[in-house]
Amino acid sequence: MSFTRSAAFARLSSHKERFSSPGSLQQLFQQDSNRVSRYSFEVAGINFDFSKHWLDQDVHQELVALAQAQNMNEKIAALMNGESVNPTENRPALHTVLRAPKTLDIDVNGTAVADEVHGTLARMSSFVDSVHNNQFVGYTGKPLRTIVNIGIGGSYLGPKVVSDALAPYAKDGFSIEYIANIDPSDATDVLSKLDPETTLFVICSKSFSTLETLENAKACRRWFLSQGGDEADVAKHFIAVTTAIEKATAFGIDKTNLFPMWDWVGGRYSLWSAIGLPQALYLGMDVFKQLLEGAHEMDNHFSTANLAENIPVLSGLLGVWYQNIHGASAHAVLTYDQRLKDLPNHLQQVDMESNGKSASLTGHSVTYDTGSVIWGGVGTNGQHAYHQLLHQGTRLIPTDFIVAWRSHNDIDKQHQWLVANCLAQAQAMLLGRDEQQVRGELSSKGLASSDIEALVPHKVIAGNRPSSLISFDQLTPAVLGALIAYYEHRIYVQSVIWDINAFDQWGVELGKVMGDAIFQALEGNDASVDASTQAAVEAFLRANQA
Ligand code: F6P
Repeated sequence: MSFTRSAAFARLSSHKERFSSPGSLQQLFQQDSNRVSRYSFEVAGINFDFSKHWLDQDVHQELVALAQAQNMNEKIAALMNGESVNPTENRPALHTVLRAPKTLDIDVNGTAVADEVHGTLARMSSFVDSVHNNQFVGYTGKPLRTIVNIGIGGSYLGPKVVSDALAPYAKDGFSIEYIANIDPSDATDVLSKLDPETTLFVICSKSFSTLETLENAKACRRWFLSQGGDEADVAKHFIAVTTAIEKATAFGIDKTNLFPMWDWVGGRYSLWSAIGLPQALYLGMDVFKQLLEGAHEMDNHFSTANLAENIPVLSGLLGVWYQNIHGASAHAVLTYDQRLKDLPNHLQQVDMESNGKSASLTGHSVTYDTGSVIWGGVGTNGQHAYHQLLHQGTRLIPTDFIVAWRSHNDIDKQHQWLVANCLAQAQAMLLGRDEQQVRGELSSKGLASSDIEALVPHKVIAGNRPSSLISFDQLTPAVLGALIAYYEHRIYVQSVIWDINAFDQWGVELGKVMGDAIFQALEGNDASVDASTQAAVEAFLRANQA
């Protein structure tokens, strides 16, 4: 049965009107002096303050009832125990095993997966050591110090967040670059910075058949050969992470430098696997393991906490409340941390590729909205760009504010200003500014009353806009791991409510197939394309005439 037909959904809907009028959130704060502690939760060093949400005891209770009606506890157990939660591909989604202890007893097709994971972690450790200790060196004997991650989607976005966020922990002398896009400008810009003798390319591709990654890998190899390396040297400068061992070997990767991943890890959930090898090389294996430990702590919380206090569960349910009852279609992630500037991009892939579905698990068209539009960016920059719409636009956009109390960097009072701005934005969304306040401000400036009345509607800010404050002491590897795992689980929770498969991504196939056909048309070959596309093809051919 669709969740929208459940009794809990009907009861929840009956609470709708109580929250959407200006001032209702403020009233909740006035009525309950304990509100902040009641709706603040702490796990793995992260504090989640949900007090600025459209939430009270009744709504909380009904959200939990909704989760129960959808068998949330059983579904969480199914994910964690390796059941086939991805039925269209007939496999489990065991990213949580990638950060679990070796003792975890789960097998997939007769293989103890935690053993495989820890075997690979041990291989990663010894490879990282051999690069750091200069045993594995470049073709001229120089140490390898620049790591180039060649990959796209999940083989790029999450890994990039990890290396950006944890840059303060980077190994001395190491740097990391990313080549993802098929746009030749991406590889050109990165290659122009590299020294072939000291660069290690890591081809990261679960399938080893992704167009962008293969074309970029070939471009890098051509560049390497053009810079003095020869074919026999390729193995010293190119390694790979993939499930497709044969394809990678055919590319010229030495089998000893091939790191496995598994079908039961989705690409967008793979940063914890050997896909994280470039980041482990850049940061050190100890830092990579701390990242895994932080994520594991969040996994433990997710699989054991009561639904009412389960942070990813509650957060996912709040998203459903806003989207399916209040009509919100977007969710903003605003990181008040420069080093997390790409986190919204990663979450955009994880969330939108996971929950951008319109067929239910049983193959019926859903009759409600699924996956929300995830967007965001870094504060304070966004304040001078899109926050206007958050404060005065017509849309409801629940927002996450993410902030560390202590920075890794110290310039005068800049971090204090950053925190003040983060808190101020969340406060402005909560309180807004009513007509009386606007009138008072304008009259204190001596404006004529006709001018005041003309300005009032433009200066009023309704407030009452919901947000989470996600805070921690400092952005450490463990905190980052827990933070990303929190979002992964939130996404799964929503997929359970919406009764969709969060782990396939058939929607990305069609554009790939059409891209192949259009590539042929751009080569000048006949292809059956629509009239608009044909006109664009002809424009390309005219522009590229010899
Ligand atoms: O965008 C589709 C997708 O399959 C993602 O899920 C994946 O992360 C990305 O392409 C890259 O895939 P691969 O790691 O196989 O190259």
